[in-house]
Amino acid sequence: MTGKTGAGLHPIETASRDEISALQLQRLQWSLNHVYKNVPHYRKKFEAAGVHPGDLKQLSDLAKFPLTDKRDLRDNYPYGMFAVPMGEVVRIHASSGTTGKPTVVGYTQKDIDMWADVMARSIYAAGGRRDDIVQVSYGYGLFTGGLGAHYGAERLGAAVIPMGGGQTEKQVQLIQDFRPTVIMVTPSYMLVIAEEMARQGIDPRTCSIKLGIHGAEPWTQAMRLEIEARFDCNAIDIYGLSEVIGPGVACECVETKDGLTLWEDHFYPEIIDPVSGAPLPDGELGELVFTSLSKEAMPVIRYRTRDLTRLLPGTARSMRRMAKITGRSDDMLIIRGVNVLPSQIEELILRHPELTPVYQLHVEKDGPMDKLDVYAEVRTELLEQLGLMGREMIGKELQHNIKSYIGVSCDVHVVEEGKVERTIVGKAKRVVDKRPK
Ligand code: DLL
Repeated sequence: MTGKTGAGLHPIETASRDEISALQLQRLQWSLNHVYKNVPHYRKKFEAAGVHPGDLKQLSDLAKFPLTDKRDLRDNYPYGMFAVPMGEVVRIHASSGTTGKPTVVGYTQKDIDMWADVMARSIYAAGGRRDDIVQVSYGYGLFTGGLGAHYGAERLGAAVIPMGGGQTEKQVQLIQDFRPTVIMVTPSYMLVIAEEMARQGIDPRTCSIKLGIHGAEPWTQAMRLEIEARFDCNAIDIYGLSEVIGPGVACECVETKDGLTLWEDHFYPEIIDPVSGAPLPDGELGELVFTSLSKEAMPVIRYRTRDLTRLLPGTARSMRRMAKITGRSDDMLIIRGVNVLPSQIEELILRHPELTPVYQLHVEKDGPMDKLDVYAEVRTELLEQLGLMGREMIGKELQHNIKSYIGVSCDVHVVEEGKVERTIVGKAKRVVDKRPK
């Protein structure tokens, strides 16, 4: 079920729920058999759990199969999870983990084609068309962002500018000279580009960009509004992870902007309780888990993403949606016993129109106690008007809100715009945790 999206929607995007479920069941059975036959690690895990691919009679039977996580991939580094001989593999990507070795993923030609299809579908859902010029400002290389976006935009039939990440002045020059109508870039770096434009005296609203397709890191609705206002564009959320394919697992539809449509014909989603591992019903917040439905080279079975979200019914398409990711179960900070997601603090910062969306949370030990310092930035144009007193008042209010909404005490530092470290390539670093592990 692949196909060109340049001409419009693929039939599966408007299929009935029954058709989607029937396709999923058939593909799940194929996937389970494929890994059982070809990946010794899965065969062993299935046998230890007393399950066989033949036990999957209906979609809900998937819950009987064991979960997979990053550790399984790390233990089989680099190629132990591949389900085809290397002769069939045409591409390798890797994502750097927080510790030690990267996670390695492989693709057959058919996998690369499926990826280009779901990416083309995503860009189309976001509002991109074949006559668009697309600047790809995700990093190229082992990271899946650059090449994933590149192949998808080409598959759609658009003209691709393979800029890659970094070199902010050059990004701006290309935008001014090549006049891309679409940019694909992390949301935090999109704002760095806006700042560079402002520095050069260019109003981002006058530039050629009409659509930004942003992902690879969590971002909030408030940040969307900020990007849309600054560039006078649509800012659309795209989600994915290397272990599942790369970007293009889910994407928002521009006509609704109400969460990300999951391309359920290729990736089967579940939500589980992150502590017990038990499946949760649609609508409940929990950890997102994926099973590959069509991937050949390195399929995953019930892979724990650590991303927290909810599954919602379809709106603009028949496939289900996922709510914006609210954070990761493993980047959840626990500060003096209180669970804190960086996105909760981001929401509170962005309630202050005087502050920029760039911030950092520093956590350290103060004696036996955890200490949280929040660094937020005041917009340059308001610096003089607010003065030191004004800044102090904003800091106090933010501190009060963090205490009353999230339940954690902290010190807030309202610094000048540009003082908080910017991420030029890769994902924004919102948290600096200096506590001993
Ligand atoms: O970040 C793939 C990607 C590239 C997605 C470009 C979108 C755009 P990884 O490096 O393997 O792959 O990191 C995957 O990034 O589990 C999430 O925690 C986070 N992430 C990706 N997209 C979003 C998003 C790419 N839209 C990890 N919102 C995932 C929130 C996201 N978090």
